[in-house]
Amino acid sequence: TTRSLFLLPGDGIGPEAMTEVRKLIAHMNEVEEARFSIDEGLVGGSAYDSHGQAISDDDMKKAMAADAVLFGAVGGPKWDGVPYEVRPEAGLLRLRKDMALFANLRPAICYPALADSSSLKPDVVEGLDILIVRELTGGVYFGEPKEIIDLGNGQKRGIDTQVYDTFEIERISGVAFELARTRSNKVCSMEKRNVMKSGVLWNEVVTATHKEKFSDVELTHMLADAGGMQLVRWPKQFDVIVTDNLFGDMLSDVAAMLTGSLGMLPSASLGAPDSLTGKRKALYEPVHGSAPDIAGQGIANPIAMIASFAMCLRYSFNDIETADRVEKAISNVLDQGLRTGDIMSDGCTKVSTSQMGDAIVKA
Ligand code: NAI
Ligand code: MG
Repeated sequence: TTRSLFLLPGDGIGPEAMTEVRKLIAHMNEVEEARFSIDEGLVGGSAYDSHGQAISDDDMKKAMAADAVLFGAVGGPKWDGVPYEVRPEAGLLRLRKDMALFANLRPAICYPALADSSSLKPDVVEGLDILIVRELTGGVYFGEPKEIIDLGNGQKRGIDTQVYDTFEIERISGVAFELARTRSNKVCSMEKRNVMKSGVLWNEVVTATHKEKFSDVELTHMLADAGGMQLVRWPKQFDVIVTDNLFGDMLSDVAAMLTGSLGMLPSASLGAPDSLTGKRKALYEPVHGSAPDIAGQGIANPIAMIASFAMCLRYSFNDIETADRVEKAISNVLDQGLRTGDIMSDGCTKVSTSQMGDAIVKA
């Protein structure tokens, strides 16, 4: 069967990183049983330059119809002055919203060769492999009321509202439990039930979901602030962490820094399974942005983008074997001492974006 991919390279280093993924896909189409069909569209500043929107309706349709979307990065100083509704980020926000991508998966994997470049001691991170599952479409970033009101006495009041309904907590914890079953079978749920009503409900619903459908998975609970501390103290105690939008935003950035450069970090955003086919809508993207400071020089690290494609193989196509092989290839190339500038260290060989991509394809 053919697997359809929709590529949205975007701006800055997005297209440079995507070129390396295209090489890998071309190689797989040649030598593997897997067959990928590729279509490509415009998003962000490059879409704005071409037709005045951050993503066109036509490209949105293609994104919705594809088995998976691979997204590069958007933005850059060139588009600082464009109207708010069509700014580059609006393209990504529309994709997340229209595809209803409620589950954001951020792995933090420490490749052995890079254990020395973490902000933590090598023995704390070596072999680290955790997955943060963040709720992406609810919580305090979207809850109403959301406003600044004038109190009239020279004072204003800024209001954001944290809201979670049972179904939202059920579906995100369901994703976390399912993923845990494919890993080390452990989930830690993080909230602040000691001071937040939404935290009390979160804890209750995760516990009930676990009891009903996933009692084979080991479940623990932690207050989110203590969780942040534990992530830095001894991250290897975790397997899958499930948490809300706000805490997940912060905890995943903390976890990211355990493993080194932004140029290494992939992510996935998943929607609900289709009622007929059971297939989830999904978008895969590196955590980094368009890096205008190094764009166009051929020196960006393509690993985050390639590792995002590995996540696509794993989660959209259930092709665990090939996903493992791509990740192993990344690891091997790092073991050989090949480094782009952002992860360069003494005694290693500095390579360009395209040399790194070639080496990974070869490996
Ligand atoms: P950034 O992630 O683009 O860059 C931060 C720093 O990390 C820069 O020094 C950059 O050179 C370096 N870096 C990032 N990825 C790298 C890679 N693959 N290889 C080597 N070095 C890498 O974040 P920044 O500078 O805050 O934002 C730049 C633009 O990207 C802005 O317009 C921002 O809005 C946009 N952005 C877009 C995102 C997306 O498309 N999802 C996410 C974050 C930022
Ligand atoms: Mg963030």
